Amino acid sequence: MLLITGGAGFIGANFVLDWLAGCSEPVLNVDKLSYAGNLDTLRSLHNDPRHVFVHADINDRETLNRLFAQHRPRAVLHFAAETHVDRSIHRPADFVQTNVVGTFTLLEVARAYWNQLTGENKAQFRFVHISTDEVYGALAPDAPPFTENTAYAPNSPYSASKAASDHCVRAYRHTYGLPALTIHCSNNYGSYQFPEKMIPLMLTRALAGKPLPVYGDGLHIRDWLYVGDHCAALRAVLARGRPGETYNIGGCNEKTNLDVVQTLCTALNRIKPKPRGHYADQITFVADRPGHDRRYAINASKIEHELGWRPAETFETGLEKTVRWYLDHPDWVNRIISGDYRNWVEFNYTQRLASGAFFSEIATGASAKRHRASR
Ligand code: NAD
Ligand code: DAU
Repeated sequence: MLLITGGAGFIGANFVLDWLAGCSEPVLNVDKLSYAGNLDTLRSLHNDPRHVFVHADINDRETLNRLFAQHRPRAVLHFAAETHVDRSIHRPADFVQTNVVGTFTLLEVARAYWNQLTGENKAQFRFVHISTDEVYGALAPDAPPFTENTAYAPNSPYSASKAASDHCVRAYRHTYGLPALTIHCSNNYGSYQFPEKMIPLMLTRALAGKPLPVYGDGLHIRDWLYVGDHCAALRAVLARGRPGETYNIGGCNEKTNLDVVQTLCTALNRIKPKPRGHYADQITFVADRPGHDRRYAINASKIEHELGWRPAETFETGLEKTVRWYLDHPDWVNRIISGDYRNWVEFNYTQRLASGAFFSEIATGASAKRHRASR
């Protein structure tokens, strides 16, 4: 059996659904159901004996000890984390608690469990740690994409906490021999993503006729990875990755945020046209995120050469699937946006939107003209 942490969140749940669609090996899913955890996503697995869900915090060592002893997993895939950069700016302590202390606790329990395994069970055990490209910091416009050897330079409380967890994983491999692997992936998008992250936030707001809040001048660059491609990469790492190694996983899709929002609006306009006007008319430039990293990009040649993985989706095909998924699942979205989510939106955006006209003027000035000219 696989032990998955954070399997009720966006990537973890996509992985669980994908895994169980393709094989019979059961999954033990340990998730504390934070605001980002959503059992609705796993509804199709209700009563499926291959999916064992346990509502628990990765900081709870006793429960973890019991779960390892009882279910005897052959591998751990560690997704659980606090993940939203904007929230990390407002409440960094939660990020240290889960991403650093929680990962440390999980490592301790996994190490004790692995130590008492013998023979093939011990040799085949794997601990796969899901990290991020953000630990490498911001790239200059002309710098080559991040490789596995790029130095760490985290800039937000989120990326600092992920970097700290990566260092713990590395140390447990180096000092104790735990067969751990770390992956660094770029911005994921696709079905079941919590609408605090850029693509589902813009999508749901576009459909609701609300302003689309682009931070700063909108020329920050991310490398977009379709979540289904990420799941395929994780399967390859679990099956064939070498313990002690790190693997970068990216979508080969570097885009400015403005490009992403405009492409999204164009797709929406085609699939679900507005009665009047264009969704792009809702774009509003707002106050930037403090410490906002300008560019991330991944060099994924190591995983391609060693493990034979490369992304199957282009940004256009992945986005089309994503838009159609959100249009086809209004109930999943509505259950989220009618709850506590509203408080976050009010907290993060009210002030930003109030200053929107001011920032739109700046952003549609020199920098946006530059952007248009470069297209
Ligand atoms: P998410 O925020 O959608 O889900 C996180 C899940 O972890 C939730 O189900 C939540 O309930 C659970 N969780 C949080 N704290 C916990 C705790 N203390 N104990 C147990 N469960 C807890 O996150 P995601 O976007 O699916 O990201 C998954 C992993 O991938 C994270 O480690 C993140 O750092 C990494 N990552 C994400 C992206 C991305 O674009 N989303 C990119 C790179 C790396
Ligand atoms: O790079 C991997 C990381 O990608 C993951 O490790 C994080 O967990 C994940 O949240 C994501 O971080 P980002 O900060 O890049 O993602 P987010 O969706 O929050 O923002 C993407 C870009 O869009 C970023 O440059 C900020 C911008 N943005 C975001 C929001 C929410 C806006 O312009 N407006 C917004 O309202």
